[in-house]
Amino acid sequence: MDAVTTPTATQENRSTVPAENGRPLLEVEDLQMYFPVKSSGVIRRTIGHVQAVDGVSFQLGAGQSLGLVGESGCGKSTTGRLITRLYEPTGGAVRFEGEDITAYSAKRLQPLRREIQMIFQDPYTSLNPRHTVGSIVGAPLAIHNVVPKNKILARVQELLEIVGLNPEHYNRYPHEFSGGQRQRIGIARALTLQPKLLVADEPVSALDVSIQAQVINLLQDLQKEFGIAFLFIAHDLAVVRHFCPEVAVMYLGKIVEIADRESLYDRPAHPYSQALLSAVPDVRQAAIGGRRERIRLTGDVPSPINPPSGCRFRTRCPIAQEICAKVEPPLLQIGPRHKVACHFPGELGKQPDKPITARMLGVDDNGTPDPGAEPVADLGNRPGYGDTWFDLTNKTIVHG
Ligand SMILES: Nc1ncnc2c1ncn2[C@@H]1O[C@H](COP(=O)(O)OP(=O)(O)O)[C@@H](O)[C@H]1O
Ligand code: SF4
Ligand SMILES: [Mg+2]
Repeated sequence: MDAVTTPTATQENRSTVPAENGRPLLEVEDLQMYFPVKSSGVIRRTIGHVQAVDGVSFQLGAGQSLGLVGESGCGKSTTGRLITRLYEPTGGAVRFEGEDITAYSAKRLQPLRREIQMIFQDPYTSLNPRHTVGSIVGAPLAIHNVVPKNKILARVQELLEIVGLNPEHYNRYPHEFSGGQRQRIGIARALTLQPKLLVADEPVSALDVSIQAQVINLLQDLQKEFGIAFLFIAHDLAVVRHFCPEVAVMYLGKIVEIADRESLYDRPAHPYSQALLSAVPDVRQAAIGGRRERIRLTGDVPSPINPPSGCRFRTRCPIAQEICAKVEPPLLQIGPRHKVACHFPGELGKQPDKPITARMLGVDDNGTPDPGAEPVADLGNRPGYGDTWFDLTNKTIVHG
């Protein structure tokens, strides 16, 4: 059977059914990656940790795509590498088709390496310059022993054709191709083993703007045709807008807002999302409170070695108050498919005067513990969305 060009019945189903066994294809819960920082000198002690990813949770259905967006250094690539298990997480869990793969050994991961593939940002460094395109794209077939040796070339040519390259060019070397073409080679290599999940880490950021749209269109076509689930990493919200029906915004190792596309682009509730969106020219101005000008964030992104207390965004947030330095805001569900981590969430200019989270967290409006309060025990950091949420307009819990 032609494993690549003919989507099978299950692949067809993957795009419509959220999960093959009632569970999402990918589930990430409270994921954490702390890189040790060593002292200089002969005895290198651990003197701190880079909190690159700290408590990230989300779900991804089969055949779906989720965008992961945030400034450079916020932990997007680390998240991608944890999912593909290039890193072993410090804490939390990665579940693939319901299986907890967090602590899988290299041997147990081997079959999963076929199912989860990654496309990297830089098409110049991710391809071995000494190998021909044919051997780069065909290598996974040989390693995993999925097609007989004498069929590999035909399959490679098929794959080159699928990604829009000349199948006769299998004998050429990466340097003979343009940047956009090289990214197509990277995509062909990622497709070789028919993955169920592709982690695309800024796949178009290194390409000319004129080429970016072509590569995104190609990815979108492939996703539709083969029902592949995508985690699409980008540093700005414009790129993922047309690709991803759901988008998560990250800041300093945490998800600050995650929502379906309409909620996020039309009604962003986190000040950081609002700032990012104000830089996207064609987003409806309503989304950023009728402003025309860009919201410029002041100050630098703080170090992930020593992040600010409470809300990590508070040092750059235009509406921060006392509670923000004392208590971390939970990622609270505020719509059927919308979560935000802010004490004062709301559309720009319509944010509440008082923190909506204080009572649930058992603190007063200034963030001081309130002995009489009954904090909500389970404001947990669960992946996915629940049936109830906090309605920002009426300040009540809604059962969907
Ligand atoms: N292997 C590593 N060792 C130490 N620190 C790292 C490593 N990889 C990434 N970091 C740090 O973790 C943070 C998140 O990095 P990264 O995930 O690459 O962010 P992004 O992809 O959003 O730009 C950064 O501060 C980065 O310097
Ligand atoms: S919790 Fe406070 S500092 Fe953080 S985004 Fe909301 S208002 Fe700003
Ligand atoms: Mg990165």
